[in-house]
Amino acid sequence: MCGIVAYIGPREAYPVILKGLKRLEYRGYDSSGVALLNDELRVYKKKGKVAELEDSLVGKDLHAHAGMGHTRWATHGEPNDRNAHPHSSASGRLAMIHNGIIENYTQLKQELMRKGYVFKSDTDTEVLLNFIEDIQQNNQCGLEEAVRIALKRVVGAYVIVLLDRDTPDTLIAARKGSPLVIGIGKGEHFLASDASPIIEYTKEVVYVNDYELAILKSDELILKNLGNDKITPFIQKLDMEMAAIEKGGYEHFMLKEIFEQPATIFDCLRGRLDVVKGTITMAGIQQHIEKLSTAKRIIMIGCGTSWHAGLVAEYVFEELCRIPVEVEYASEFRYRNPVVHPGDVIIAISQSGETADTIVAIEKAKENGAFILGVVNVVGSSIARISNAGAYTHAGPEIGVASTKAFTAQLAVLTMIALKIAKERGSIDTTRYMHLLNELHSVPEKVKEVLKLNGAIQKLAEKYKEAKDALYLGRGYNFAVALEGALKLKEISYIHAEGYPAAEMKHGPIALVDEALPVVFVATRDSYHEKIVSNIQEVKARKGKIVAVISEGDTIIESMADDCMVIPEADELIAPMLSVIPLQLLAYYSGVAKGYDVDKPRNLAKSVTVE
Ligand code: F6R
Repeated sequence: MCGIVAYIGPREAYPVILKGLKRLEYRGYDSSGVALLNDELRVYKKKGKVAELEDSLVGKDLHAHAGMGHTRWATHGEPNDRNAHPHSSASGRLAMIHNGIIENYTQLKQELMRKGYVFKSDTDTEVLLNFIEDIQQNNQCGLEEAVRIALKRVVGAYVIVLLDRDTPDTLIAARKGSPLVIGIGKGEHFLASDASPIIEYTKEVVYVNDYELAILKSDELILKNLGNDKITPFIQKLDMEMAAIEKGGYEHFMLKEIFEQPATIFDCLRGRLDVVKGTITMAGIQQHIEKLSTAKRIIMIGCGTSWHAGLVAEYVFEELCRIPVEVEYASEFRYRNPVVHPGDVIIAISQSGETADTIVAIEKAKENGAFILGVVNVVGSSIARISNAGAYTHAGPEIGVASTKAFTAQLAVLTMIALKIAKERGSIDTTRYMHLLNELHSVPEKVKEVLKLNGAIQKLAEKYKEAKDALYLGRGYNFAVALEGALKLKEISYIHAEGYPAAEMKHGPIALVDEALPVVFVATRDSYHEKIVSNIQEVKARKGKIVAVISEGDTIIESMADDCMVIPEADELIAPMLSVIPLQLLAYYSGVAKGYDVDKPRNLAKSVTVE
């Protein structure tokens, strides 16, 4: 949510920043801007996508060796030029970019207004910037000290980066709650919200922690805490290649990421699952296996698609491990005074590892003594670091705003964790255990089969693109897949879609069914099959259009449905990793058919770092 990038060193800063902003645009695209510093501090900003900023800067003086850029997902103040970042201080000497929310900004703003400050924007960022400048003027101190003093008063989440016209050889950045990575080059430094703008130049990075301040010159990096003590930077090597952040010939990242799923699920299983030996190797889980297998209760927390992965996992864990599982929206969990006991296990699921709602929920659960297991995609992200243990999903960078490959990788990891715990508890017999290991092993090949539906689903999307609403129904393991299918459709094609447990339909949503309503059934062959066939009959009797995801050879539903997407047979516990894929494609092609920017759907951002 908001992307930031900055550079200091011998290169021209603007091209580095511009390229970085394009890579970070998935984090928000309401407006963008750059600040460039040589002898003077120049700030350029524009409502809309980065390309619009780029066009507006043709012919401008962009020469600088230090600079920063921002791509915005609006929180305070509507998306327009005025509210775009960077912001300039009252004196014009400082410029700042910010990712996050300053919760006590109203109070700070009032204090500053009483002192005569006038604000040019509606943002919390401009308030914080002038608060910093005011401290500097009152205390006659350097920028670094003013930032430290200011941040002690700030409530909220932030990454900020500041440029000072009077010290063109220095960038100052600080973090609490939002992500910040420093890239260390030879005689140059990069700063960004994630590693994608950095990877082209260096693989050596430092992940800045909460309450840390970075003072960067071309050839020097100083990290400090807010108490002014120096901290030794922990330099890590990035395990990522450039190809992972490029479209690789696909028209959109979303399509590329859908098609990557055979490989991403394979990568997720690789080195862990051994069907010959009958083992699952996950060091982060093995180390804590006693705590996990003796837990009285497991609570899955997450948001959006990650929450849906938790819902599937609830069924898997309860079935295999016989431990009670609850699944909570992270945002609700945090603020409803949840009952959490020491010994409870919280499984926090997140693609980005930076979702603010999930982070605060983890903090709350930790306070109450729970054990936190992170299932995260982005290596080194905040959630990965604040969890007591974890397992990465290894899906690689997910850039399309709608989550696809991260979901199937989350399911693969959660299934492996459940199998490990079940084995330890003795709640699964060897035949079933070995069967599920083999089923998991076959998922990447089966996903390849599912992807062959691509062309047919494109036609299906054309057929239904004018629908105003859609209903997605599933039962059992496929219930959460129905929710996920509906979420994908609404966020990408803006068609209103609802997901429901199929049997719940008759308790209300059936009132919506008429000949104009497509009803998508996720109805692979499982223990609920007969029941869902009845639900399909109920819709058919009311002339709803039936679109169904079914297993090979299911002639019963095939004869009832208007359109079918046929996928390979799989154990019901594994089936969601396959059944979700046609729904991802359906959403993708519906968005494309309607002419929308599917990688950057309106009002959304990839990494939701505000509560
Ligand atoms: C939907 C989507 C979002 C995210 C949600 C959580 O396609 O991408 O619903 O799943 O914002 O994000 P993470 O998994 O990064 O915590």
